Amino acid sequence: MDADTCFLELVRIMQITLEIARFVDVNPEFLVIPVFEEDLDLQATASDPSRGTRLRALREAGEFKAGVGELLVLYPESQDRGKLALAGLGKQAPNASRKAFQAGYALGKRLGGRSREVISLLIPQAAVAEPGYLRNLTEGIAASQAGSGLYKKEAERFTIRELQLIIPPQDGLDRAALEREIHQASVVAGSVNWARNLVNLAPQDKTPRRLAELIHDTLAPLGVSVEVWDEERIARERLGGLLGVSAGTDAPPRMVLLEWKGNPESPALALVGKGVTFDSGGLSLKPSASMEDMKCDMSGAAVVAAAFQAVATLGLPVHWRGYLPLTENMTGAHAMKLGDVLTMRNGLTVEVLNTDAEGRLILADALSYAAEQKPAAIVDLATLTGACLVALGTKIAGLFGNQQELKARIQQASEQTGERVWELPLDDDFAEPLKSHFADCKNIGGKWGGAITAAKFLEKFVGGLPWVHLDIAGPSWSESDSSTADAGGTGFFVRSLVRLAESSRSA
Ligand code: BES
Ligand code: MN
Ligand code: ZN
Repeated sequence: MDADTCFLELVRIMQITLEIARFVDVNPEFLVIPVFEEDLDLQATASDPSRGTRLRALREAGEFKAGVGELLVLYPESQDRGKLALAGLGKQAPNASRKAFQAGYALGKRLGGRSREVISLLIPQAAVAEPGYLRNLTEGIAASQAGSGLYKKEAERFTIRELQLIIPPQDGLDRAALEREIHQASVVAGSVNWARNLVNLAPQDKTPRRLAELIHDTLAPLGVSVEVWDEERIARERLGGLLGVSAGTDAPPRMVLLEWKGNPESPALALVGKGVTFDSGGLSLKPSASMEDMKCDMSGAAVVAAAFQAVATLGLPVHWRGYLPLTENMTGAHAMKLGDVLTMRNGLTVEVLNTDAEGRLILADALSYAAEQKPAAIVDLATLTGACLVALGTKIAGLFGNQQELKARIQQASEQTGERVWELPLDDDFAEPLKSHFADCKNIGGKWGGAITAAKFLEKFVGGLPWVHLDIAGPSWSESDSSTADAGGTGFFVRSLVRLAESSRSA
């Protein structure tokens, strides 16, 4: 399969419809009844005594415990038109946002294991009442409709043609608001899957040139302005970090600049994404096992591009600028050597003492350039350090920032989706180990606190503007398949960036 085919696959969105109806009045082809663990009485079926009794018996026999990912398919009895399934939603609290997405993903993944026409989902009252729950659940279901088998001959995940959400009539139900939420969810899930697919693409199919093209061809038609700098322009613009890293490969680098003026009046939010399409480590070569997954090293760029896709498709009234430095990190004859000194866009000189600390070199230029354009704030996303995985594990991103308000906004967005971040310090003394004998600084710190020294390095290039750095090395990639996730790229933080855009009127 070539990259064009993958590109087509990733814009496929499932059709989701809303029906407001009493449970007793519906008798669809395949009815799925999601149940919270707390929901002992199976209130979702209370209005249908015979169905309710049958399901309660199963619960009581311990055949179904309503855990996240549990799905029990029952065959129809005479009064049912079609199949019936119970789907577990887990405990409703705490962490409702994260569980909603996971439960949706698990449910959709199970049902997507074979080709299906229409699935109807009875949304429990409690799920409608909890703010954001339905949105996250729906995002999970829709995102689960794409697997990781981009290059497999036989499909192993099938998109459900239509997902029908059935909500019982109740006081104060706002149909238009629910429909908006469902639309947002399906758009955002499409963007998550675009990011996942870009990350899952083989490195040979996403060279910087090709990746820039894919981003251009997807975003330009949506009204996002996309400018792509080639290697000559990159040299003219003095992006010394990007030039240094790309010196070791024949694949020319690219710098992708995005702009979405949903609100032209407001000062921009700058989003910067690390786009290393393959990280071999360079001359500071990684061992083979550590290199296996290094096609994931452009996740930051993929996530930023995908967030632009969602924000533009939804027409959100924000002003966003994107900066995506794209390169391979290889060991070619002209590769950076240890001791080489690079001059970055903002004039700082950097002594390269480890060519595997390449992300910060390309981000330095992108941050400097972004800062020159005086945005209201800068947020960067990067699979920056293994040390962040040591600190926080594989599921939580490291958050660093120099301004409380911006940090709080990112944290709020993350709470709305359950895409977890955890703040790590940025105290001044962590910059000490970056001192160089020969240049303004070097590109590695000492043995300890590697995620923090990397962030301190980046801080030198943000021009004192409000800035948040997210080290997504862990959560942007899933090592294995599970009921609630597929192996490979996760699209981590696309959903939160969209929530950030939705929450702001000004930037
Ligand atoms: N891309 C890696 C970081 C990474 C590691 C991402 C594991 C995803 C999973 C980054 O370029 C890197 O190699 N960082 C080095 C920095 C070190 C040389 C200071 C690292 O973490 O070892
Ligand atoms: Mn590296
Ligand atoms: Zn890297």
